[in-house]
Amino acid sequence: MTNTHITSYIDGKVGIIQLNRPKVANALNRLMIDEIVKQMEVYDSDDAIRVIMVKGNEKAFAAGADIDEMMEDTPLSLELLDPFAVWDRMLLIKKPMIAAINGFALGGGFELALHCDLIVAGETAKFGFPEVQLGVMPGAGGTQYLTREMGRRKALEMVWLGEPVSASYLLQNGVINRVVAPELVEEESMKLANKLSKQAPISLRLIKEAVDAAGDLSLRDGLKLERKNFYLTFASGDQKEGMQAFAEKRRPSFKGV
Ligand code: HXC
Repeated sequence: MTNTHITSYIDGKVGIIQLNRPKVANALNRLMIDEIVKQMEVYDSDDAIRVIMVKGNEKAFAAGADIDEMMEDTPLSLELLDPFAVWDRMLLIKKPMIAAINGFALGGGFELALHCDLIVAGETAKFGFPEVQLGVMPGAGGTQYLTREMGRRKALEMVWLGEPVSASYLLQNGVINRVVAPELVEEESMKLANKLSKQAPISLRLIKEAVDAAGDLSLRDGLKLERKNFYLTFASGDQKEGMQAFAEKRRPSFKGV
């Protein structure tokens, strides 16, 4: 299906969203973010889809929020528009989301990647938060995600300087998962997605909830949530199938129920 600013299609059990404003390095205007999130929600509620992948093109994942669109914003117009409410809906997506990145992932583009669960990047990809050079700062979670993932000092250095960093730097600092040759980004992301597609969907979903809670909850509350989710897996047919398959020395076939 082709929307205005994204292209979406399905490959096996993977729902793909391709950012599609190549003339402006996939700069994210508000309509585009709206389309991306709506498509994530469509995939999230489609039983045939197990994993969601977001990708750009060879030159850019996304070069940030659309600066032309932001130029005339005022504090009040932003307050009334509430442009980040739609970003918050990404936090409700239950299925695994993979960002496949080549080229620039800057500002809001990097933040879109950080909203995904796993990030695969090409060796030549460039990540950064150039907002400081525009006299603003990250607004879609950049300071929060980065600080949690790479620590305060490294995050400050990156966001204060606003200079792009390499995929290997982010790999070393625990922000991204895999770095491969640029031409292999899609293949590597699909390999990961296909592996995840074979895992028990309810386990993946409850693991995501528990891992995300680790950033917000006390250890005691996090352990409680993990335990409840562990118990909940025993309500699924996939728990029976997984353990039965082990006993029968065969591969399990998970149905997501
Ligand atoms: C609007 C953009 C854009 C953006 C690129 N373009 N990024 N338009 N908003 N964020 C446009 C350029 O104006 C240009 O249009 C075309 O895309 C190609 O870009 P070039 O600059 O000619 O290409 P290149 O020299 O290869 O440089 C690529 C680039 C550079 C390094 C990505 O364009 C750049 O620095 N862009 C801005 C990056 C940025 O500051 N991002 C943060 C935005 S603030 P024309 O018409 O001239 O061909 C942000 C806040 C997030 O993200 C808040 C939450 C959402």
